[in-house]
Amino acid sequence: MLPPPRLILGVESSCDETGVALVALPQDGAPRLLAHALHSQIDMHQAYGGVVPELASRDHIRRVVPLARQVMSESGRTLAEVDVVAYTRGPGLAGALLVGAGMACALGVALDRPLIGIHHLEGHLLSPFLSADPPSFPFVALLVSGGHTQLMRVDGVGQYTLLGETVDDAAGEAFDKSAKLMGLPYPGGPHLARLAEGGRSEAFDLPRPMLHSGNLDFSFAGLKTAVRTHLVRLGWLDQADALADPCHRATLSDLAASTQAAIVEVLLKKSLAALKDTGLKRLVVAGGVGANRALRAQLDLACARRGVRVHYPELHLCTDNGAMIALAAAMRLQTGQAALSREPAFDVRPRWDLASL
Ligand code: KG4
Ligand code: ZN
Repeated sequence: MLPPPRLILGVESSCDETGVALVALPQDGAPRLLAHALHSQIDMHQAYGGVVPELASRDHIRRVVPLARQVMSESGRTLAEVDVVAYTRGPGLAGALLVGAGMACALGVALDRPLIGIHHLEGHLLSPFLSADPPSFPFVALLVSGGHTQLMRVDGVGQYTLLGETVDDAAGEAFDKSAKLMGLPYPGGPHLARLAEGGRSEAFDLPRPMLHSGNLDFSFAGLKTAVRTHLVRLGWLDQADALADPCHRATLSDLAASTQAAIVEVLLKKSLAALKDTGLKRLVVAGGVGANRALRAQLDLACARRGVRVHYPELHLCTDNGAMIALAAAMRLQTGQAALSREPAFDVRPRWDLASL
């Protein structure tokens, strides 16, 4: 008879979402999500137009234990059954990361269980393995989160080669900063995407930075500047009032659609170039911007034409969550690549290169 699956508790606290999850790792199969719970701080940070790191840390402290209790109760398991405690070691906000690391260390000591510190982007990158249509290795990964835009070649767990990345703003930042200039609430990405619905994507002529750079790097800072220039000309910079006026709203909807189209076109063309360069026929899209419907629709269409399979995380696991951290730990354990530690070390890494893993 096979031994029972190992249970991995995962804690995510790198930015503005507190996430806890329990994943089961059977001896002979894929990791399975048993329960997960999430608290988003969006409402709290909205008043400030962006994440306030000190408030983020304090809120993680308030939420992490109740969320862990919820996960244990929903899974029907007890803490004593947990075999390994995983947490996000970086990159992210130092104070916020320390909350998850502190919680994980405390649990590890109390239960006498080993810890695994996980790279946040590895969590995003592997998150489609929890979907109904998981990928297989090797694949090209387009990682598009709030702080990162990277194309990676992924040959297996822990085998990540950087193909290209942004030289300035990330795609998520381009969404968020452009949205803020238009007077939309934080985080701007989903709000801008909603405003773009029904807008004309060819209405404004916006730059496609580095589209023809001949490499797989990105740049989005110029796009944000172009959006600002249009808003200054229209007299609506940072004017939430303009959105309330139906006439102005139609123009802003055009601007939002044009901004989204520019970001999506660059992400699409660079992803296709990465697939061509590597000769791979599988693409994984992960990170918050991967929830964008326009991006998904265009990637699906272009990839179908080229015989490329595209894999996404489940929509609710696109943005930050604890499930992807527990999953990454499970996949590292499964492939013998987990750096297990029994030392309660607060060794978070706010800046941490994924390709260095
Ligand atoms: O991966 P994530 O949850 O957090 C980080 O690790 O950064 O990504 C957050 C980013 C934000 O920039 C947010 O605006 C963007 O993902 N985002 C979207 C959408 N949903 C989230 N951007 C465009 N369209 C969306 N539907
Ligand atoms: Zn993230």
